Amino acid sequence: MKVTVVGAGAVGASCAEYIAIKDFAAEVVLVDIKEGFAEGKAMDLMQTASLNGFDTKIVGTTGDYSKTAGSDVAVITSGIPRKPGMTREELIGINAGIVKDVAGNILKHSPNVIIIVVSNPMDTMTYLTHKALGLPKNRIIGMGGALDSARFKYRLAEALDCPISDVDGMVIGGHSDTGMIPLTRLATRNSVPASEFISEDRMKEVLEETKVGGATLTKLLGTSAWYAPGAAVSAMVQAIGCDLRKMFPCSCLLDGEYGQNDIAIGVPALIGKNGIEQIVEISLTDAEKATFAASADAVRKTNALLDA
Ligand code: LAC
Repeated sequence: MKVTVVGAGAVGASCAEYIAIKDFAAEVVLVDIKEGFAEGKAMDLMQTASLNGFDTKIVGTTGDYSKTAGSDVAVITSGIPRKPGMTREELIGINAGIVKDVAGNILKHSPNVIIIVVSNPMDTMTYLTHKALGLPKNRIIGMGGALDSARFKYRLAEALDCPISDVDGMVIGGHSDTGMIPLTRLATRNSVPASEFISEDRMKEVLEETKVGGATLTKLLGTSAWYAPGAAVSAMVQAIGCDLRKMFPCSCLLDGEYGQNDIAIGVPALIGKNGIEQIVEISLTDAEKATFAASADAVRKTNALLDA
């Protein structure tokens, strides 16, 4: 398997590192526009290979997309990250042009590629990539829900004071501070509803902490997070490479599912060798349906800025 990661910043490099450490891909190509940057990151990562025990070859290039030729999966992390106090939506002006350009370059050299979009505002950048490339909808996936769900599980385990592997939970909806929908009703600890272990108020706190998970880190770090985003992308790349048909909430172009059309937003999907193998429609309560519709309206408002 060959994977291209565009953007050798912190998210892109973490993604490349986690893919290499899991040792399921033959090659990872890091691309960046900053002269020598991707080459440097690739070389540094390759010098961890004998220490960390992986055989994945990591190469870097300053914008030479011919090196990405024949990629099975490409990850787009390009663009500017948010600074403290900024919303993901505020990045649209700069990132839209970059993402469109990058997506075109990727497809030119890898006609069968499956694309994972990470750049923010992620749902809108995923929608833009669909519109720009016109590929079958299974081949373009937005990464948000896998990350948001990992943050939900972190907060749940903290509230329940238990190991993270004891809890399970999922976040659907838009990848934004207001649009995320942590499905608290369905969260469990070893298949027991999580609500049996904590009060309703504490669960509300978990919900709010999850929704601002990215913003909390941006405030602490001075820039957007990278370890968990990189790990979330690498898990999705692995599901494609190993044809796992593993369920991730992720940004999918909807065609009637969840009552929505012509929008990319976070819903559960099975991820395998064809990208999105199936969108999973779960039963939602009326309140959850209303929250999902409001989240979709917000994503649509951001999508409308693409034409502005
Ligand atoms: C975050 C960015 C990747 O949530 O959107 O950290």
